[in-house]
Amino acid sequence: MTDRPDARLTHIFDDMVASLRQFIRERRVTHEEYRRAVGFMCEVAERGEVPLLMDVFLEATVVDNADKAGTEMSVEGPYYLGAAPVLAAPYVLPQRSDEPGEILMLSGTVRSTDGVALGGAGVDVWQSDARGAYSHFNYPEPRYNLRGRLSTDDKGRFEVRTVIPSPYEIPKQGPTGALLNKMGRHAFRPAHIHTRLTAPGFETLTTQLYFAGDPWLDSDVVGAVKHSLVIAPVRHDDPADLRDRGFAQPYYSATYDFALRPMLR
Ligand code: DHB
Ligand code: FE
Repeated sequence: MTDRPDARLTHIFDDMVASLRQFIRERRVTHEEYRRAVGFMCEVAERGEVPLLMDVFLEATVVDNADKAGTEMSVEGPYYLGAAPVLAAPYVLPQRSDEPGEILMLSGTVRSTDGVALGGAGVDVWQSDARGAYSHFNYPEPRYNLRGRLSTDDKGRFEVRTVIPSPYEIPKQGPTGALLNKMGRHAFRPAHIHTRLTAPGFETLTTQLYFAGDPWLDSDVVGAVKHSLVIAPVRHDDPADLRDRGFAQPYYSATYDFALRPMLR
């Protein structure tokens, strides 16, 4: 006895297979190429690169299917951990004692698409370090370095201290990197900070902020950059300001105002 068929799944899978068969005919894919593709998929799975491969080639297109109201979305990517520490204000993302990079004070607001400030909204932040490495995936400890969860105050505002990340090169030792290399493509993403915003009654917004002037903005390997998500941090070096803040080096600040879409129903 079979379960009641899932109509959406059936439709999607039938269509996908029909598209792939059509492509195999048009490209006259050989049996040897087919075997290589199967081997490639096995290697991707063995090396734990299924999320990476899928996200590099397909996630940005899925994101673009969503409703366009509010802040534009961007890919979650394969390096979200969830369950990051819940931080207390004033917010500072967890950092190593010798964390490299320029200080960034990232602030902003979270509002509904009709402009109402959302107090108590969840702001989950994660990013690579100033050398382009993600905690847990590219260096084992501390697992939650440069990852944390904050919330907005009663006016929908937040401010968090972090460091400016650097461009990120997706791993090149594995099959996904080898494929890009064979296609003559570089493996860089522009520097970015990931955010995932939540508020009861609103659609969860997963997006990323990019940096003006980044050399990879126009050729992101993942194709996920949106110009509305580019920030331009301002440098601060006034000695009195630095002293007040207890910073031994100049810092940068940037602001971004997010708008969440109300849930239908
Ligand atoms: C991808 C996304 C990222 O944010 C990242 O840092 C690396 C890879 C991706 O979509 O594959
Ligand atoms: Fe990323």
